[in-house]
Amino acid sequence: MKTIIEILTDKVSEAFEACGYSKELGIVKVSDRPDLCQFQCNGAFSGAKLYKKAPMIIAKDVIEKLQSNDIFANLSVVGAGFINIDVKDSFLLGYVAEILADDHLGIKQTTKNETIFLDYGGPNAAKSLHVGHLRSAIIGESLKRLANETGRKTVSDVHLGDWGLQMGLVMAELEERGDYSLSGEEWSNIYPLASQKSKENEAFKQKAQDITAKFQMEDPKYFSLWKKIMEISVAEIKETYDLLGVNFDLWHGESDSKKYMNTLISILENKGLLVESLGAMVVDVSEPTDNSPIPPIIIKKSNGASGYATTDLATFIEREELCHPTELWYVVDNRQSLHFTQVFRCVKKASLVPQNTAIYHLGFGTMNGKDGKPYKTRDGEVMKLRDFYNTVYDTVFKRVEDSTFSDGADKKDIAHKITIAAMKFGDLMNHRSKNYIFDIDKFTASEGKTGTFLLYTIARINSILKKVVNVTANKKADKIYSSSEKELLLTLALSNEAFELAYNEKAPNIICENAYKIASDFSKFYSENHIVGEQDQLKKSAWINLCKATKTILEKHLYILGIEPVEIM
Ligand code: ARG
Repeated sequence: MKTIIEILTDKVSEAFEACGYSKELGIVKVSDRPDLCQFQCNGAFSGAKLYKKAPMIIAKDVIEKLQSNDIFANLSVVGAGFINIDVKDSFLLGYVAEILADDHLGIKQTTKNETIFLDYGGPNAAKSLHVGHLRSAIIGESLKRLANETGRKTVSDVHLGDWGLQMGLVMAELEERGDYSLSGEEWSNIYPLASQKSKENEAFKQKAQDITAKFQMEDPKYFSLWKKIMEISVAEIKETYDLLGVNFDLWHGESDSKKYMNTLISILENKGLLVESLGAMVVDVSEPTDNSPIPPIIIKKSNGASGYATTDLATFIEREELCHPTELWYVVDNRQSLHFTQVFRCVKKASLVPQNTAIYHLGFGTMNGKDGKPYKTRDGEVMKLRDFYNTVYDTVFKRVEDSTFSDGADKKDIAHKITIAAMKFGDLMNHRSKNYIFDIDKFTASEGKTGTFLLYTIARINSILKKVVNVTANKKADKIYSSSEKELLLTLALSNEAFELAYNEKAPNIICENAYKIASDFSKFYSENHIVGEQDQLKKSAWINLCKATKTILEKHLYILGIEPVEIM
């Protein structure tokens, strides 16, 4: 289905053409001055240069052609030649009705057969998830849902860091204890201890490195211990992702790339890309236009071990074989941008995927504490994701517990959903590439640009709808009665535009903005009109319809953001 902007652009372009001007001039956009009009077209100004005519004359010619029409309510030329546009109420209502009747709620569907492969999450096994893992999970999940909503197939992979020294460290520690039972012990205790020990104790460090080399070569003892650790660790990681409502199609890891290692090496060799440098085998990925030096990518270290970059390269072969993706999106911290520049260049040089496959590193900034530094516990430790969730949950639960309107409801479930909404919306409302400060009071406030406010809006609509269950919808409710109503309808009508833009820019913050706009427009509409007590039945029907439309469209926004609504609040 076409967006409202496309429909208007089509009409205005036709008018430009009918007047003998170029059709490209008819681009319509949302008005910069919503107080004056809903939409505008500035094409007369570019036309003035092309046709050596005053923009005013061009604009007047064009609106002349648009007069008798069932879309436009008001067309005027203002200033030196801006075309101001308002649409008819019947058109606006009809358009929103069309969105609601559409299977995809008006979201533009791709016409191609596209598969997007998303790599997000990326936690290291044998460690607990910590706050540093939050952003990748939240942003990745949202981008996946967004791509799905546009009709694209997606494959998501958590890409566990399961092949590195962290595994060897944990094994070395268990070995020293002489206890491999792993019963009930949390990684949060074992790993930091082992990591600290390796810094102070050279022999221990050596031992961990030896064990790492051994399990990587599938030495029976350590490989079976590795499997056991993986089983327990993955179960714990899954539990935390489940809590956050973050899901993956694949639970592959760096270790899965080993099957492709020989293929990778032979491809690189055959293409003559692999060269020796200081005992290591590397691929030069520098380009003449580089402003700063891009170092070669290390394929095999001098001790024969392969590292992070090698596993990422081999994983490309795996992914291509698995689903031949049209695009691959890596939702990973900004600080890894050099790594991805090197890897992606090498992928293209070696043609590990077809040349037209698009590969993106969708980087993100850090979540900081109020001191502007990466969020920490009070003792300055990295905070476990579970503890972080609990901190927010406790604050929210106290409030829900004290509220009387949710009596009888499952308060724990409500508090959980508000917690998730606060965390996710607080994160996603910032452009992913920026850092942000986590402010628990601000993020959980029920007013303002927060996830809580959005849930509150849904709960409020639910409560209205409950009070009017007996009102039968009147089909003839096809009028707009107030200005706040019209504003809300316009925002709803522009939602599919926001979804499209968010997809193109891979920026869920655009969806947050639109969701907030809907909720604030609704709040104004609600406070200016007495929906439940309204006597005029046609008016009441129109308003109830608008409540339902708002709920449906707002819930779609929330779904894409990975936020579940609450029934009451
Ligand atoms: N495990 C990595 C880390 O902790 C992140 C993985 C990101 N994904 C990837 N394909 N490299 O830094």
